[in-house]
Amino acid sequence: MTPPPPHRAWWKEAIVYQLYPRSFQDSNGDGIGDLPGILRRLDYLQDLGVTMLWLNPIYASPQDDNGYDISDYYAIDPAYGTMEDFERLLAEAGRRGIRIMMDLVVNHSSDEHAWFQASRSSREHPLRAYYIWRPPRPDGGPPSNWRSFFGGSAWEFDAQTGEYYLHLFSKKQPDLNWELPELRQEIYRMMRWWLDKGLGGFRIDVSPFLSKDPGFPDFPDDFSGDLAGYYASGPRIHAFLREMNEQVFSRYGIATVGEGAGIRMEEALEYVGQDRGELQAIFHFDAITLDRDPGDFMRQVPYTLPQLKAVFARWDAQLAGRGWNSVFLGNHDFPRMLSRFGDPEHFRSESARLLATFLLSMRGTPYIYYGDEIGMVNAPFVSISEYRDIQTLNAWRELEARGDAAELEAFLRMQAHVSRDHGRTPMQWDRSPQAGFSTASPWIGVHPGYPACNAADQQQDPDSVLAYYRRMIRLRKSMPLLAYGSFTLLEPEHPQLFAYVRAMEAEQVLVLLNWSGRAMEYEWPAEAGTAAELLISTYPDTRPAADRRQRLRPWEGMLLRMHPGA
Ligand code: GLC
Ligand code: CA
Repeated sequence: MTPPPPHRAWWKEAIVYQLYPRSFQDSNGDGIGDLPGILRRLDYLQDLGVTMLWLNPIYASPQDDNGYDISDYYAIDPAYGTMEDFERLLAEAGRRGIRIMMDLVVNHSSDEHAWFQASRSSREHPLRAYYIWRPPRPDGGPPSNWRSFFGGSAWEFDAQTGEYYLHLFSKKQPDLNWELPELRQEIYRMMRWWLDKGLGGFRIDVSPFLSKDPGFPDFPDDFSGDLAGYYASGPRIHAFLREMNEQVFSRYGIATVGEGAGIRMEEALEYVGQDRGELQAIFHFDAITLDRDPGDFMRQVPYTLPQLKAVFARWDAQLAGRGWNSVFLGNHDFPRMLSRFGDPEHFRSESARLLATFLLSMRGTPYIYYGDEIGMVNAPFVSISEYRDIQTLNAWRELEARGDAAELEAFLRMQAHVSRDHGRTPMQWDRSPQAGFSTASPWIGVHPGYPACNAADQQQDPDSVLAYYRRMIRLRKSMPLLAYGSFTLLEPEHPQLFAYVRAMEAEQVLVLLNWSGRAMEYEWPAEAGTAAELLISTYPDTRPAADRRQRLRPWEGMLLRMHPGA
């Protein structure tokens, strides 16, 4: 018998819905999603069954990187509404049993933040040390060869004081100096101020980058190009996170999850180990970057299903009983989950249901990205003018300056698969113009496929992807085994089947997922037992095999409650 879970906690049982406020629902006809818009859709989210919303940043911001450049941590950006709107959202969500998780972006601020304005004004200003300033090299060049994630050097020369400041992201996102205790106290004070309003948690943006090697050592000659791996886990990262936990997290019963770019599996427990007093969980990047060239993040490369299974199995084993996982296949920094891991062209709703079955039957807290519950897919953008993301646009400008037309064309073709904008198109609510997102022309184009893929139609259809998400969420909530039970991967090398056993105490569930468009048959091992009950399946008429030989149609997935085997 598998033992019961040692530590039950609400945040382990939570079902999180990540919502990109800019793209969810516009309420005032300016083409930008906002808080009153989210308020209008709370009933929809309650019906879906999610228990926490993670909102991408809604703080005051010049929107150089869609809110990840904050100019006032204590204010709501007027494009999104007012503090009153936010408080109403907290209260109304709370009435529906839904908590709110905010994005915490404290590796950097906006260059328009009052701190940076003061810091750049003179070398003697008391806030100078809030940011990372270094003199030029003797030849006038930048202090090191560090590169920005958004192109070019990570150092920007500021003529006013004749020094460079560090920005791992855009020039308008100067990095804060976490070495300075006063700065850290300012941040903790701000966090407590938000938590006192009743937040359910924080998602900590680029959490492993907060600490930097103060020597900013040049990339080695054999540098692979993996910037995140190089910048992550600086010398004092664990001291900072422990302090943040001690001074903030531990005083509130909140959920904490760090964006884990650059964190290697072997060191993950240093961040999320139960005995560490740092973070509860991270988002690791190993699954969602499987199709990326590690040395060139914007280049797609092939991968196989056995590789994907291995990533999930290894992370589960690594954290089992010692930490906690987050389960997700997409977010605002990646293209649509269905376009990457499913087959929207041939088996759109089948593969969307299969991915839902997967996300909600793994150990760890599941994250559903807005629109995935109706099967939204990548945008059919063909021209650079349709893109909005600073990452895509900066890279385009760099190439344009080189003036090679073939290179530009290849870049555009690649963006159709890798741009972050695919995950940012407006939520498809109904068949009305702009998919019911806005009465105006939205800040980024609505996917033209919305008449065939929208929430309103799917609400009416018991066989829709949306209806399936609801059922799968209900099942997940009714079975603690699905959150906590042990995970055992079967058939690691099988090229089209993802199968595993979840077990807790006397209960055992077999999960079979045909991760392909080809029908197949699978004979599960006798130890897995015999099928007692079909808990859920992605087709309406699945029949569990009496003899352990299960037929699986294209993208068919199912959960079987098992009688224990011999
Ligand atoms: C994180 C965010 C991403 C943002 C970056 C800089 O990776 O998820 O959207 O551009 O940090 O804040
Ligand atoms: Ca608006």
